[in-house]
Amino acid sequence: MEKRSISDLQQKLNSEKDIHTDFREDMTYGEYLSLDAILNNQNRLSNHHDEMLFIIIHQVSELWMKLIIHEMQGAIQAIERGEMQPAFKMLARVSKIQMQIIQAWDVLATMTPAEYLQFRDDLGKASGFQSYQYRLIEFSLGYKTPHILKIYEKEKDVLARLKEAYSAPSIYDVSIKALAKAGLPVNEALLNRDFSVVYSGDDSVAAAWKTVYENTDKYWDLYQLGEKLVDIEDSLQQWRFRHMKTVERIIGFKVGTGGSSGVNYLRQVLDHRFFPELWDLRTVL
Ligand code: HEM
Repeated sequence: MEKRSISDLQQKLNSEKDIHTDFREDMTYGEYLSLDAILNNQNRLSNHHDEMLFIIIHQVSELWMKLIIHEMQGAIQAIERGEMQPAFKMLARVSKIQMQIIQAWDVLATMTPAEYLQFRDDLGKASGFQSYQYRLIEFSLGYKTPHILKIYEKEKDVLARLKEAYSAPSIYDVSIKALAKAGLPVNEALLNRDFSVVYSGDDSVAAAWKTVYENTDKYWDLYQLGEKLVDIEDSLQQWRFRHMKTVERIIGFKVGTGGSSGVNYLRQVLDHRFFPELWDLRTVL
């Protein structure tokens, strides 16, 4: 190996320092990323060692959710403009983030029931059930249930944001519009429907997707779109499944801190399908 003199190394360090001090007006890394705010807000309510894991796993998941919402909004707008390639790139990123948050369950599963029970009572009624970002993701995928908005009645700003998302078209609504724009016969009533009503399926949409999947060369973009949507729904269900099993592993069938039946509730939501025709298609093709 080549021998380096101390002055060579010093020179190298200085040149690296030059690169790293190239921040606008002396701004530091920590300032740019607001690390003070982020790293000084793991406020444990107990002195239990594992509470740190519990807080950080939720905070990390919420940060990833923020990026998912950002990408989903970008993708919805791009599909509306007919710009499929940028939309695909954003949806592919959503899928990769989903892989991260699915993997995160492995980290949480290192916490045993005995460890969690030592600080569970300190959480009071706080529960992931109240995660408004999770609801924004569900809304962007078209899963809208009015009782969810009631949870946020006391948080005016959050409620306003949720209501706006609740009545906006979901990624599936704009995808149905894209099918119509491509000349496929789609029930007109779907194109300007009340988007706050949960989409429950339509024969014309089923027929349109079938045409796309049977003529992939002609409808390559729509075919890709369909598969990207299936990727996202598939991963969301995997996340839900891992959540449900991790919860069962840690608290068994105890009721949730948010007041639901716990694992049984989490199992029920697994039954919901966001893009029904894209799943039915697998059988009829
Ligand atoms: C020890 C760990 C955990 C336990 C025991 C647990 C338990 C539960 C339970 C029982 C529910 C149902 C609502 C309730 O009654 O509270 C729930 C909902 C939820 N949890 Fe967790 N959870 C854990 C970790 C997490 C993590 C790390 C996240 C990531 C953000 C999360 C996000 C959610 C979300 C978004 C819901 C709402 C699900 C829906 O309504 O479909 N949970 N959790």
